Amino acid sequence: MEKVVLAYSGGLDTSVAIPWLHEHYNMDVIAVTADVGNERDFTAIREKALRTGASTAYVVDAKDLFVRHFVFPALQAGAIYGDAYPLATALARPLIAKILVDYARQEGASAVAHGCTGKGNDQVRFDVSVGALAPDLKVIAPVREWRWSREEEINYAAEHDIPVPITASSPYSIDENLWGRSIEAGVLEDPWAEPPDDVWQWTTDPARAPDAPAYVEIEFERGVPIGLDGYHLDGVTLVERLNELAGAHGVGRLDQVEDRLVGIKSREIYEAPAAVVLHGAHAALEQLTLSKDQALFKKDVAKQLAALIYNGLWFSAHHQDLAAYVASSQRFVTGIVQLRLYKGGFRVTGRKSPNSLYNAALATYDKGDTFSHEAALGFIELWGLPLRTQASAQLLTSGASDALGLTGPDGNALGPGDRAGPRPPPPAPQ
Ligand code: ARG
Repeated sequence: MEKVVLAYSGGLDTSVAIPWLHEHYNMDVIAVTADVGNERDFTAIREKALRTGASTAYVVDAKDLFVRHFVFPALQAGAIYGDAYPLATALARPLIAKILVDYARQEGASAVAHGCTGKGNDQVRFDVSVGALAPDLKVIAPVREWRWSREEEINYAAEHDIPVPITASSPYSIDENLWGRSIEAGVLEDPWAEPPDDVWQWTTDPARAPDAPAYVEIEFERGVPIGLDGYHLDGVTLVERLNELAGAHGVGRLDQVEDRLVGIKSREIYEAPAAVVLHGAHAALEQLTLSKDQALFKKDVAKQLAALIYNGLWFSAHHQDLAAYVASSQRFVTGIVQLRLYKGGFRVTGRKSPNSLYNAALATYDKGDTFSHEAALGFIELWGLPLRTQASAQLLTSGASDALGLTGPDGNALGPGDRAGPRPPPPAPQ
């Protein structure tokens, strides 16, 4: 019998997929569950896979790999999608795809399978990643193929003695790993509806967060966080601790409408306390240690990288090229950042680095100032030269400074009537 390696979560979809793969493809199912920090009972999940008909079931602790090879490089890059999402789900997919392929090789399987629907980004990430790593392997997506209603699926489960968890009534679709929780569907599909309280699991309601702020110091070495409040920690522990600490202060709640790769806009809720705080701290340290040009260019790289990760192109040459740039850019991003966590938000309160480009003697307005004020004059003379040249040759030919084109929000140029100063405010409502 041919074999298929199934990415198994223990949930209803992938449990039902086990007998379904048997029946429809006549394949032996090997269940593989990757632990990327989703805090589940993996022993129970493994047993459930076997009870449901998997011939073998593996649980892989992939937390360290996830943090070192996916999460921290994305943090160094500053990779954030849609201005907020630190890419937790998107980053875990290529790793899980890699694990599926490794097990497929080890077990001599001819296919891999995953439980994604036909509407999301995750199916693309799995299919494209497996295609890049092992073009000979077939990818089967049972949920995408069977297209059952919830009821039909539950009936099939009952016929096959698969327990339907009471939480099948949970209105949300949730994906979780160390880098964050992604929540969608249910009432969240209405972008006007405020997320109900039960959406949030990792973060305290900011209104009920402690009244006293917490200070935290994060140490980075070459852009990688290595210490918390003076203690050196491995990456997994550091992220876990920070999730708890920042989550307790209500930090890391995100709510955005994002553009899925498959062309639709969807409303997504995220909880990512550690990711949000680490991105903020890392950015603060880069402000201190990167030159203006490096910082500017790196923003473009970050955007490209975020899009590429979101769009399932992790295993691309373009990614390798950008990652090489990012790694190089982090050579001097070493130091400590202090932050203040308070009622749902955080502020960077201090930063220091042995490689700091901040020069107090140049920056100060006090005694000891070494900045050359005379040189500033000459600099301005030349900096403004092309502007003066163009203004007098072209823009000021009518002799009126209005020709310089001051426009208002309506796009109309500033006219002589506007000289009188700001318009009076509208009358107060009665
Ligand atoms: N929109 C996010 C992404 O595409 C999260 C998807 C997570 N899936 C879920 N079942 N909530 O990366």
